[in-house]
Amino acid sequence: MNIGILGSGVVAKTLGAKLASLGQSVMLGSRDPGKLAEWLAEVGEAARAGSFAEAAAHAEVVINATAGLGSLEALAAAGAGSLSGKILLDIANPLDFSQGFPPSLSVANTDSLGEQIQRAYPAARVVKTLNTLTASLMVDPRQLAGGDHHLFLSGNDAEAKAQVRAWLGEWFGWEQIIDLGDITTARGTEMLLPIWVRLMGALGTPKFNFKIVQG
Ligand SMILES: NC(=O)c1ccc[n+]([C@@H]2O[C@H](COP(=O)([O-])OP(=O)(O)OC[C@H]3O[C@@H](n4cnc5c(N)ncnc54)[C@H](OP(=O)(O)O)[C@@H]3O)[C@@H](O)[C@H]2O)c1
Repeated sequence: MNIGILGSGVVAKTLGAKLASLGQSVMLGSRDPGKLAEWLAEVGEAARAGSFAEAAAHAEVVINATAGLGSLEALAAAGAGSLSGKILLDIANPLDFSQGFPPSLSVANTDSLGEQIQRAYPAARVVKTLNTLTASLMVDPRQLAGGDHHLFLSGNDAEAKAQVRAWLGEWFGWEQIIDLGDITTARGTEMLLPIWVRLMGALGTPKFNFKIVQG
Protein backbone atom coordinates (compact mmCIF):
# COMPACT_ATOMS: atom_id res chain seq x y z
CA MET A 1 0.00 0.00 0.00
CA ASN A 2 1.15 3.55 -0.64
CA ILE A 3 1.56 5.38 2.66
CA GLY A 4 2.33 9.10 2.88
CA ILE A 5 3.78 10.29 6.17
CA LEU A 6 3.82 14.04 6.72
CA GLY A 7 6.86 14.66 8.88
CA SER A 8 10.61 14.25 9.17
CA GLY A 9 10.94 13.79 12.93
CA VAL A 10 11.36 10.69 15.08
CA VAL A 11 7.72 9.62 14.68
CA ALA A 12 7.75 9.85 10.88
CA LYS A 13 11.10 8.06 10.67
CA THR A 14 10.13 5.32 13.13
CA LEU A 15 6.81 4.60 11.43
CA GLY A 16 8.34 4.98 7.99
CA ALA A 17 11.14 2.51 8.70
CA LYS A 18 8.78 -0.06 10.20
CA LEU A 19 6.24 0.23 7.38
CA ALA A 20 8.97 0.04 4.74
CA SER A 21 10.33 -3.09 6.44
CA LEU A 22 6.84 -4.60 6.06
CA GLY A 23 6.97 -3.97 2.31
CA GLN A 24 4.72 -0.91 2.20
CA SER A 25 5.59 1.89 -0.19
CA VAL A 26 6.37 4.84 2.07
CA MET A 27 6.94 8.50 1.26
CA LEU A 28 7.87 10.96 3.98
CA GLY A 29 6.91 14.59 3.42
CA SER A 30 8.85 17.64 4.57
CA ARG A 31 9.44 21.28 3.65
CA ASP A 32 13.05 20.16 3.18
CA PRO A 33 13.10 16.52 2.03
CA GLY A 34 16.87 16.74 1.51
CA LYS A 35 17.37 16.39 5.24
CA LEU A 36 16.03 12.84 5.04
CA ALA A 37 18.90 11.63 2.82
CA GLU A 38 20.75 9.83 5.62
CA TRP A 39 17.54 8.16 6.84
CA LEU A 40 16.67 7.07 3.30
CA ALA A 41 20.10 5.51 2.89
CA GLU A 42 19.51 3.45 6.04
CA VAL A 43 15.97 2.35 5.17
CA GLY A 44 16.50 1.46 1.54
CA GLU A 45 14.32 1.41 -1.53
CA ALA A 46 10.87 0.96 0.01
CA ALA A 47 11.00 4.55 1.30
CA ARG A 48 11.18 7.88 -0.48
CA ALA A 49 11.02 11.52 0.55
CA GLY A 50 9.28 14.47 -1.06
CA SER A 51 7.33 17.60 -0.32
CA PHE A 52 4.20 17.45 1.82
CA ALA A 53 2.19 17.64 -1.43
CA GLU A 54 4.13 14.78 -3.02
CA ALA A 55 3.79 12.56 0.05
CA ALA A 56 0.03 13.14 0.25
CA ALA A 57 -0.44 12.63 -3.49
CA HIS A 58 1.49 9.33 -3.25
CA ALA A 59 -0.69 8.11 -0.42
CA GLU A 60 -3.66 5.81 -0.13
CA VAL A 61 -3.46 6.57 3.58
CA VAL A 62 -1.92 9.74 5.01
CA ILE A 63 -0.26 9.92 8.43
CA ASN A 64 0.13 13.30 10.11
CA ALA A 65 3.37 13.19 12.10
CA THR A 66 4.11 16.91 12.14
CA ALA A 67 4.51 19.20 15.15
CA GLY A 68 1.01 20.16 16.32
CA LEU A 69 1.61 23.88 15.88
CA GLY A 70 2.62 23.27 12.25
CA SER A 71 0.08 20.56 11.37
CA LEU A 72 -2.52 22.78 9.71
CA GLU A 73 0.22 24.46 7.68
CA ALA A 74 1.66 21.09 6.66
CA LEU A 75 -1.79 19.77 5.69
CA ALA A 76 -2.50 22.93 3.68
CA ALA A 77 0.73 22.29 1.79
CA ALA A 78 -0.33 18.67 1.30
CA GLY A 79 -3.49 19.94 -0.34
CA ALA A 80 -7.17 19.22 0.29
CA GLY A 81 -7.44 17.32 -2.99
CA SER A 82 -4.88 14.74 -1.87
CA LEU A 83 -6.60 14.25 1.51
CA SER A 84 -10.16 13.94 0.22
CA GLY A 85 -11.72 10.52 0.86
CA LYS A 86 -8.53 9.17 2.45
CA ILE A 87 -7.95 7.97 5.98
CA LEU A 88 -5.85 10.61 7.73
CA LEU A 89 -4.21 9.03 10.74
CA ASP A 90 -3.41 11.93 13.07
CA ILE A 91 -0.65 11.40 15.61
CA ALA A 92 0.13 15.06 16.34
CA ASN A 93 -0.20 16.78 19.69
CA PRO A 94 -0.79 20.53 20.01
CA LEU A 95 2.28 21.10 22.18
CA ASP A 96 3.40 24.69 22.61
CA PHE A 97 7.04 24.95 23.72
CA SER A 98 7.17 28.75 23.34
CA GLN A 99 7.44 29.19 27.13
CA GLY A 100 9.94 26.31 27.44
CA PHE A 101 9.50 22.91 29.08
CA PRO A 102 7.07 21.50 30.06
CA PRO A 103 4.97 22.56 27.08
CA SER A 104 1.37 23.77 27.30
CA LEU A 105 -1.42 22.81 24.91
CA SER A 106 -2.29 25.34 22.20
CA VAL A 107 -5.86 24.02 22.05
CA ALA A 108 -7.77 22.16 24.79
CA ASN A 109 -10.99 21.64 26.76
CA THR A 110 -13.55 22.74 24.18
CA ASP A 111 -11.61 21.86 21.03
CA SER A 112 -8.65 19.77 19.89
CA LEU A 113 -6.15 19.58 17.06
CA GLY A 114 -7.92 16.47 15.78
CA GLU A 115 -11.16 18.42 15.48
CA GLN A 116 -9.43 21.40 13.88
CA ILE A 117 -7.99 19.06 11.25
CA GLN A 118 -11.34 17.32 10.64
CA ARG A 119 -13.09 20.73 10.31
CA ALA A 120 -10.44 22.02 7.91
CA TYR A 121 -10.65 18.86 5.77
CA PRO A 122 -14.23 17.58 6.04
CA ALA A 123 -13.70 15.09 3.21
CA ALA A 124 -10.74 13.47 4.98
CA ARG A 125 -11.47 10.53 7.31
CA VAL A 126 -9.53 11.66 10.37
CA VAL A 127 -8.62 9.02 12.95
CA LYS A 128 -6.62 10.21 15.93
CA THR A 129 -4.45 7.55 17.51
CA LEU A 130 -0.89 6.70 18.65
CA ASN A 131 -0.46 10.22 20.09
CA THR A 132 -0.27 9.03 23.70
CA LEU A 133 2.99 7.09 23.65
CA THR A 134 6.57 7.35 22.52
CA ALA A 135 7.53 6.57 18.93
CA SER A 136 9.40 3.29 19.51
CA LEU A 137 6.39 1.82 21.35
CA MET A 138 4.01 2.85 18.55
CA VAL A 139 5.54 0.25 16.26
CA ASP A 140 6.44 -2.36 18.91
CA PRO A 141 3.98 -2.46 21.82
CA ARG A 142 5.30 -5.88 22.93
CA GLN A 143 8.40 -4.15 24.28
CA LEU A 144 6.28 -3.46 27.39
CA ALA A 145 4.31 -6.04 29.39
CA GLY A 146 3.93 -8.28 26.33
CA GLY A 147 1.79 -5.57 24.70
CA ASP A 148 -0.80 -5.55 27.50
CA HIS A 149 -1.41 -1.78 27.56
CA HIS A 150 -3.71 0.55 25.69
CA LEU A 151 -4.13 2.70 22.63
CA PHE A 152 -7.06 5.00 21.91
CA LEU A 153 -8.99 5.80 18.75
CA SER A 154 -11.05 8.93 18.02
CA GLY A 155 -12.88 9.70 14.80
CA ASN A 156 -16.23 10.30 13.16
CA ASP A 157 -15.97 7.54 10.55
CA ALA A 158 -16.63 4.07 12.02
CA GLU A 159 -15.30 2.24 8.95
CA ALA A 160 -12.10 4.27 8.98
CA LYS A 161 -11.61 3.48 12.67
CA ALA A 162 -12.19 -0.24 12.04
CA GLN A 163 -9.61 -0.14 9.23
CA VAL A 164 -7.08 1.70 11.40
CA ARG A 165 -7.65 -0.80 14.24
CA ALA A 166 -6.92 -3.64 11.80
CA TRP A 167 -3.77 -1.93 10.48
CA LEU A 168 -2.47 -1.22 13.98
CA GLY A 169 -2.77 -4.93 14.76
CA GLU A 170 -1.38 -6.13 11.46
CA TRP A 171 1.51 -3.66 11.17
CA PHE A 172 2.60 -3.23 14.78
CA GLY A 173 0.91 -5.93 16.88
CA TRP A 174 -1.53 -3.72 18.81
CA GLU A 175 -4.22 -5.76 20.58
CA GLN A 176 -5.61 -3.40 23.23
CA ILE A 177 -7.35 -0.54 21.46
CA ILE A 178 -10.19 1.48 22.97
CA ASP A 179 -12.51 3.35 20.61
CA LEU A 180 -13.37 6.51 22.53
CA GLY A 181 -15.95 7.78 20.05
CA ASP A 182 -16.11 10.68 17.63
CA ILE A 183 -13.32 13.14 16.91
CA THR A 184 -14.26 15.35 19.88
CA THR A 185 -12.81 12.58 22.08
CA ALA A 186 -9.39 13.63 20.77
CA ARG A 187 -9.65 16.35 23.44
CA GLY A 188 -9.19 13.61 26.00
CA THR A 189 -6.12 11.99 24.48
CA GLU A 190 -4.44 15.29 23.60
CA MET A 191 -5.06 16.43 27.19
CA LEU A 192 -3.21 13.33 28.42
CA LEU A 193 -0.01 15.01 27.26
CA PRO A 194 0.50 17.20 30.35
CA ILE A 195 0.46 14.09 32.57
CA TRP A 196 2.49 12.11 29.99
CA VAL A 197 5.24 14.73 30.11
CA ARG A 198 5.30 14.69 33.95
CA LEU A 199 5.37 10.89 34.00
CA MET A 200 8.37 10.93 31.69
CA GLY A 201 10.10 13.25 34.15
CA ALA A 202 9.17 11.18 37.19
CA LEU A 203 10.00 7.81 35.63
CA GLY A 204 13.11 9.03 33.81
CA THR A 205 12.11 7.31 30.57
CA PRO A 206 9.61 7.77 27.72
CA LYS A 207 9.09 3.99 27.53
CA PHE A 208 5.83 3.62 29.41
CA ASN A 209 2.17 3.58 28.49
CA PHE A 210 -1.30 3.77 29.96
CA LYS A 211 -3.09 0.54 30.88
CA ILE A 212 -6.80 0.84 31.57
CA VAL A 213 -8.20 -1.52 34.20
CA GLN A 214 -11.94 -1.86 34.60
CA GLY A 215 -14.19 -3.69 37.02
N1 LIG B 1 8.20 12.09 19.53
C1 LIG B 1 7.34 11.19 19.98
O1 LIG B 1 7.72 10.10 20.46
C2 LIG B 1 5.86 11.47 19.88
C3 LIG B 1 4.96 10.63 20.52
C4 LIG B 1 3.58 10.85 20.37
C5 LIG B 1 3.14 11.90 19.58
N2 LIG B 1 4.06 12.73 18.98
C6 LIG B 1 3.57 13.82 18.15
O2 LIG B 1 3.90 13.47 16.81
C7 LIG B 1 4.25 14.64 16.07
C8 LIG B 1 5.65 14.47 15.48
O3 LIG B 1 6.57 14.42 16.53
P1 LIG B 1 8.15 14.30 16.23
O4 LIG B 1 8.80 14.31 17.56
O5 LIG B 1 8.42 13.20 15.29
O6 LIG B 1 8.51 15.60 15.41
P2 LIG B 1 8.35 17.17 15.71
O7 LIG B 1 9.70 17.72 15.94
O8 LIG B 1 7.29 17.41 16.75
O9 LIG B 1 7.77 17.68 14.31
C9 LIG B 1 8.59 17.70 13.20
C10 LIG B 1 7.80 17.88 11.95
O10 LIG B 1 6.89 18.98 12.06
C11 LIG B 1 6.96 19.75 10.86
N3 LIG B 1 6.66 21.15 11.13
C12 LIG B 1 7.00 21.91 12.20
N4 LIG B 1 6.55 23.17 12.05
C13 LIG B 1 5.94 23.21 10.84
C14 LIG B 1 5.28 24.23 10.12
N5 LIG B 1 5.17 25.48 10.60
N6 LIG B 1 4.75 23.92 8.91
C15 LIG B 1 4.85 22.66 8.43
N7 LIG B 1 5.47 21.65 9.06
C16 LIG B 1 5.99 21.93 10.25
C17 LIG B 1 8.42 19.61 10.44
O11 LIG B 1 8.46 19.86 9.06
P3 LIG B 1 9.86 19.91 8.25
O12 LIG B 1 10.19 18.50 7.94
O13 LIG B 1 9.49 20.69 7.05
O14 LIG B 1 10.85 20.58 9.16
C18 LIG B 1 8.72 18.17 10.79
O15 LIG B 1 8.35 17.31 9.73
C19 LIG B 1 4.13 15.81 17.05
O16 LIG B 1 2.89 16.43 16.89
C20 LIG B 1 4.25 15.15 18.41
O17 LIG B 1 3.56 15.87 19.44
C21 LIG B 1 5.39 12.53 19.13
